[in-house]
Amino acid sequence: MNWRVPLADIDFGDEEIAAVTDVLRSRWLSMGAVTQQFEEEFAAFIGAKHMIAVTNATAALHLACLAAGIGPGDEVIIPSLTFVATANAVRYTGAVPVFADVESLDDLNISPASIESRITEKTRAILVVHYAGFACDMPAIMEIARRHSLVVLEDSAHSIGSVLDGKTLGTWGAIGCFSFFSNKNMTTGEGGMLSTNDDALADRLRILRSHGMTSLSWDRHKGHASTYDVVDLGYNYRIDEMRSALGRVQLRKLPAWNERRRELTGLYRELLAELAPEMQLPFAETRGTSCYHIMPILLPPNTDRARFMEGMKSQGVQTSIHYPPVHRFHSYEPDWLASNTPLPLTEDASGRQVTLPLFSTMKKEQVEWVTQAARQTLAEIRAG
Ligand SMILES: Cc1ncc(COP(=O)(O)O)c(C=O)c1O
Repeated sequence: MNWRVPLADIDFGDEEIAAVTDVLRSRWLSMGAVTQQFEEEFAAFIGAKHMIAVTNATAALHLACLAAGIGPGDEVIIPSLTFVATANAVRYTGAVPVFADVESLDDLNISPASIESRITEKTRAILVVHYAGFACDMPAIMEIARRHSLVVLEDSAHSIGSVLDGKTLGTWGAIGCFSFFSNKNMTTGEGGMLSTNDDALADRLRILRSHGMTSLSWDRHKGHASTYDVVDLGYNYRIDEMRSALGRVQLRKLPAWNERRRELTGLYRELLAELAPEMQLPFAETRGTSCYHIMPILLPPNTDRARFMEGMKSQGVQTSIHYPPVHRFHSYEPDWLASNTPLPLTEDASGRQVTLPLFSTMKKEQVEWVTQAARQTLAEIRAG
């Protein structure tokens, strides 16, 4: 469909094309020196000691859970208002995801009080998601984890460059997981990154990334190793040099793009408050500095969401839902029902949530168009 305003768009140009072309000309395409440079530059950007580039954030989440020692018999507390990859990653290890509620209809992040209420003797870790790029209450969550001796992992797929109390999101817990999927604040098409300050975890993650092997093809090509041992059950979750080259250029542009997203979000909030005041805009109160990954809104209670999204579509505006809550998916619902752990705020928020377009190349006029379309669509729905 030819959207007048798409939900997301990517920004790349001659620099990215040249960087990928250089890799192709070098004739070394699988993980090697360019990936090492990408990891070092990303480490400097977020202020972590180690970065491990992987094929996508789902793989990063899987490895993070494994390296944290999560396995069968364990429970991991996660939000339900997230992409299903967060929960799937826990399940890949044989552990059980336990869903905690969001903080409020303003703060759509996981609630520390709800986390605490879900802790049992089986709980091993808390896996937080910084929804839309806005920080979870990390000081409170770290304190709960300390008191109960739990590991904290961060799904930072939305939060590339967000900062709380001087610390980049993805560096608060033991391991952070970033996504470079096409709709993210920077992209490599598919791609992901793990961050950690712990030397032992970094070693384990590197080994798990490539079949549990002690050396890479790249090491052997460079003459640094001639054979290898296999010391763990690993995977092939390696990124490649084309994507790392793309990532290096995108990373340099990211701060300016995040700033642009901040401006556009400010404009949205101003216009929506004026034109559609019945719409609820989460994250009026924020912690730290967001990277403004998406623009979530909550429709007034009892608004027909499908009709709203259809009305926006008829005006050329693509919208989405972040997210259908994981606990209501067929694959998750039976276990959740058996757990008898209600999620009233998640249910309320996820039933009314709509995501409006937001991307760094978006024009002021496009924000104006979207907000006018939202005003008109709401008026039509109210008129019956
Ligand atoms: C919150 C969250 N976690 C995990 C992922 C998975 O990322 P990837 O597509 O890189 O595997 C996404 C991707 O959209 C996401 O939004």
